[in-house]
Amino acid sequence: MIRAAIIGVSGRMGQALVRAAASESIEITAAVASAKSEALGKDAGVLAGVTPLGVTVTADLPAALGAADVAIDFSNAAATQSNLAACRQARKPLLIGTTGFSLDSELQEAAREIPVLVAPNTSLGVTLLIELVRQAAAALPAAFDIEIIEAHHRMKKDAPSGTALALGQAAAQGRAQPLDGVRQEGAARRGAEIGFAVVRAGDIVGEHSVLFAGMGESLTLSHRATDRAIFARGALQAAAWLESRAPGQYFMRDLFTHKSGS
Ligand SMILES: NC(=O)c1ccc[n+]([C@@H]2O[C@H](COP(=O)([O-])OP(=O)(O)OC[C@H]3O[C@@H](n4cnc5c(N)ncnc54)[C@H](OP(=O)(O)O)[C@@H]3O)[C@@H](O)[C@H]2O)c1
Repeated sequence: MIRAAIIGVSGRMGQALVRAAASESIEITAAVASAKSEALGKDAGVLAGVTPLGVTVTADLPAALGAADVAIDFSNAAATQSNLAACRQARKPLLIGTTGFSLDSELQEAAREIPVLVAPNTSLGVTLLIELVRQAAAALPAAFDIEIIEAHHRMKKDAPSGTALALGQAAAQGRAQPLDGVRQEGAARRGAEIGFAVVRAGDIVGEHSVLFAGMGESLTLSHRATDRAIFARGALQAAAWLESRAPGQYFMRDLFTHKSGS
């Protein structure tokens, strides 16, 4: 059994992780929320609507990491830097499922000492979609416009989603150009731009489409999540994989290419 500390345990994803852990052979040994959380002191299992785990929600991440083999962070972008620093200090592998942060140099530095998996989307289906987008962008003529359309529930804070940006990054890599130079939201298309469109509505779990449109034909690659449990299961599987890796920065696609022990 791999022992995991869940950071952001009171949230939608944190609770989904708690519910899915047993079926993925992961033992939750620590449950972390913010210092102001109403969940502090509660049992993590009860909070998630399953049987009590005997794990009390705490805000003390350094202490929580003590009995964990790996940490899984689905909290808030504002907390990512301090969560990363705590895991580095404790020498614990960290899966970052939280989106909306930008910490390139901090991640590189931490990855010299611990395994860090940055996973803006922990669905295995989306992980494959990103690779297919990279291939399609490289294979299709540059005359094809590339548009990324994403939809999420009305509460989602960041936009475009971390997954939409990862899809844009993959498309830009396929065309051997930096995304920053071609990212476009709105306005007409002149040629090489990669466009983003965002929908926020209702309880949509997560939908991403990448449209490659030429003159007279178009191709769409898409993924639709209907159950938040897919992100939880993927995150738990990825965390179990990460636990035995050497220090370094990893991505979800590495689960397909680095088999256990390689
Ligand atoms: N990678 C993926 O596949 C994937 C899938 C879905 C969502 N996400 C991302 O995961 C993150 C969480 O999503 P969500 O839908 O679960 O959001 P959420 O329901 O708002 O949950 C986030 C939780 O984090 C807690 N939190 C805030 N600051 C914290 C801190 N300093 N330490 C520990 N916990 C803290 C908050 O609870 P308290 O106030 O009670 O502490 C909150 O309940 C977002 O960035 C989202 O975009 C990623």
